[in-house]
Amino acid sequence: MAWRWHTLLLLWIFTDGALSRQWAAWMPQSISAFRETCVSIPCTFDYPKDIRPSIIHGIWYFNSPYPKNLPPVVLKTKTNTAHDNYMGRTKLLGDIQEYNCTIQIDRLNMDLQGKYYFRVDLGGYNQYTYSEHANLYMLDEPFVSLPPEIVSGSEAELTCRVPDNCPDMKPTVNWMEIEGLEHHSVYASLEESGSTWTQVSTLKFIPSYKNNGQRLSCKVNFPGTDTEYKGFVTMNVKYAPRIVDINSSFETTEGTKVVFVCVVDSNPVSQVGWYKEGALIKEEFTGNLTLELDYVTFNHDGIYICAAENEYGRTNKTMGLAVMYAPWKPSVNSSVVAMEGETVTILCNTQGNPDPVISIVKDKQVLTSVIFENELVLEIPAITHEHDGEYWCTAENQYGQSNSSFNLTVVFSPLVLPESQCTISKDAVQCMCSVKANPDPFILFELPEMNLTVSEGDPDFRYSQRNGYIVSSILTLQKDKDLQKPILCTAVNLYGKKVQELPFQDSDTLVWAKVGPVGAVVVFVILVAVGGYFIKTREKKKITESSSFIQTEASPTSSSGNGKKNLGKKESQFLNISGKFLLSKKQKPSHVDTDYANIDFTKRNVKDSFTSPEELTEYAEIRVK
Ligand SMILES: *[C@@H]1O[C@H](CO)[C@@H](O)[C@H](O)[C@H]1NC(C)=O
Ligand SMILES: *[C@@H]1O[C@H](CO)[C@@H](O)[C@H](O)[C@H]1NC(C)=O
Ligand SMILES: *[C@@H]1O[C@H](CO)[C@@H](O)[C@H](O)[C@H]1NC(C)=O
Ligand SMILES: *[C@@H]1O[C@H](CO)[C@@H](O)[C@H](O)[C@H]1NC(C)=O
Ligand SMILES: *[C@@H]1O[C@H](CO)[C@@H](O)[C@H](O)[C@H]1NC(C)=O
Ligand SMILES: *[C@@H]1O[C@H](CO)[C@@H](O)[C@H](O)[C@H]1NC(C)=O
Ligand SMILES: *[C@@H]1O[C@H](CO)[C@@H](O)[C@H](O)[C@H]1NC(C)=O
Ligand SMILES: *[C@@H]1O[C@H](CO)[C@@H](O)[C@H](O)[C@H]1NC(C)=O
Repeated sequence: MAWRWHTLLLLWIFTDGALSRQWAAWMPQSISAFRETCVSIPCTFDYPKDIRPSIIHGIWYFNSPYPKNLPPVVLKTKTNTAHDNYMGRTKLLGDIQEYNCTIQIDRLNMDLQGKYYFRVDLGGYNQYTYSEHANLYMLDEPFVSLPPEIVSGSEAELTCRVPDNCPDMKPTVNWMEIEGLEHHSVYASLEESGSTWTQVSTLKFIPSYKNNGQRLSCKVNFPGTDTEYKGFVTMNVKYAPRIVDINSSFETTEGTKVVFVCVVDSNPVSQVGWYKEGALIKEEFTGNLTLELDYVTFNHDGIYICAAENEYGRTNKTMGLAVMYAPWKPSVNSSVVAMEGETVTILCNTQGNPDPVISIVKDKQVLTSVIFENELVLEIPAITHEHDGEYWCTAENQYGQSNSSFNLTVVFSPLVLPESQCTISKDAVQCMCSVKANPDPFILFELPEMNLTVSEGDPDFRYSQRNGYIVSSILTLQKDKDLQKPILCTAVNLYGKKVQELPFQDSDTLVWAKVGPVGAVVVFVILVAVGGYFIKTREKKKITESSSFIQTEASPTSSSGNGKKNLGKKESQFLNISGKFLLSKKQKPSHVDTDYANIDFTKRNVKDSFTSPEELTEYAEIRVK
């Protein structure tokens, strides 16, 4: 507009006189002004050069160019009259004789908003209303403009435009409430457009998310007056998401319910997601994404990420969830069978949070343990039968304990023990073969010279007795048979076979050999003590019955003339010591409480020292509790 105005003006100046002049006027098409201020509408006009008026008059009309419509007269130079609305409000600023029709209107109000037409009166019929006219707009606030998009971090430029077309009242422009804006600065400039003037105040700053929704105002004052106008804008600042709240890392136990919240601030709303170990759990367009775990298990333990993204950026924050739980039932080797001498490795592993204390326990004794581990290895080098048994792997932390058991079975091939031998008595030969083996051996006696093999079930095979890993078998042969040596004991199990010739032992020396030096001493001491007691009692009480002696507590014998008499504890022990033929019921006390054993050697001793022959029997009753 500005260039056109100038160009036309220049054209008119240079062509003045040379070209024929026309009816034409130049004024801004539109012009703005604040209420209660004034406006000066710049105006020039021209007319055909053949008209030579003696005096030029002018009339400004409001809203209509045609006098016959009787539009309100804004100003009439000839009579200096005006419509009531304009009386005393208007003056012609320009020199009309110099084709300058510039008009000033004071004390503007809304009624004066409209079109203004200029009519020239050159005398006679030479009156002409120019079709060019000015639109006057009444303002009551400045025009504040925002850039199309305000993005956090990028400089934003806001302008406040204030028309400055009133020569008497110059506006001053100020931005209000800009103190908090980052790096803000204000520049003022004056723009001309179509010969109207505008003060432009430019506010530059770096917006941030904090400025979103903030209202800025531009204030216009007219010095020396109370007149003041304000324009407002509310900023819509676009920004990348910010995670403003997320739960801090959390510790819980299994079975609980937890709710996490990720509160995201962004403009526009972001897509927010919860991730665990890279896997998306939940995603929504929201400002506030919750994650509900109704029943926490160890699987929920881990690092959680809340990530948010919109077109302006992305962010994420992490949070840890620690799920505490008692150790799981340990997994251990299922029952292990090992050969003696092997190295056995036992593995126990479990899982708990915190990592548990793991122990391997056997017979209530802790063999090995680790603290804060998930795995325990027990290595038993060169395993022996002592290692056989039930093992427990226990795992414990402050949330509980659990355990598993396994059995270690040590297997070994049969071993014939040195005590295995044959004893010859008055009318029989008794052979005992003691074999240590696991699993239980199959024992048989062989008399190769007699083409005789005796195994369990044969009548001569008296019995087998088991004591831990030791199985003792006894063979009894009638002496009248023509006994031919050797007598072999054969023991077989899955892991091997052992054949051993049984040595012969004379029964007279047998007792002491069997009892051993310590046992002999014990027996001797007991005998002496009993003898001493016997002598004393006899002296004092003059007891004549010999049978009563046997019933004394310290008696070394188990025989009884009447048969069934309970034996004292010491007798039982004595018998255990004195013959390994005897069945040790201590190890197996449960089933039977009476057993019969051939204790012919005992009989001899007893007969010699204390007991009359008629009271003796081949079999003694042993009652074990
Ligand atoms: C018309 O008159 C006004 C007021 O005196 C003046 O400011 C303006 O420059 C004049 N216009 C021209 C084209 O001379
Ligand atoms: C996570 O934070 C929210 C809000 O602050 C709270 O309601 C909730 O209980 C918290 N969750 C946990 C597990 O602490
Ligand atoms: C999250 O959203 C819920 C419901 O939509 C609302 O009750 C809660 O106040 C919000 N929390 C925050 C921190 O915005
Ligand atoms: C979280 O942000 C970091 C950088 O800030 C980025 O390397 C990572 O990939 C983001 N993770 C997710 C799940 O968005
Ligand atoms: C026990 O299990 C572990 C792992 O399964 C194995 O390496 C080890 O040899 C096993 N031990 C025995 C004695 O079987
Ligand atoms: C094994 O666990 C059970 C059940 O918790 C418990 O009663 C028992 O005492 C534990 N045994 C050992 C050896 O820890
Ligand atoms: C180990 O042996 C005992 C009996 O000796 C048995 O009660 C238990 O069940 C066995 N344990 C395993 C794990 O086989
Ligand atoms: C034992 O038996 C074998 C063959 O079975 C036979 O040759 C041998 O003569 C027999 N010996 C006796 C003493 O019977």
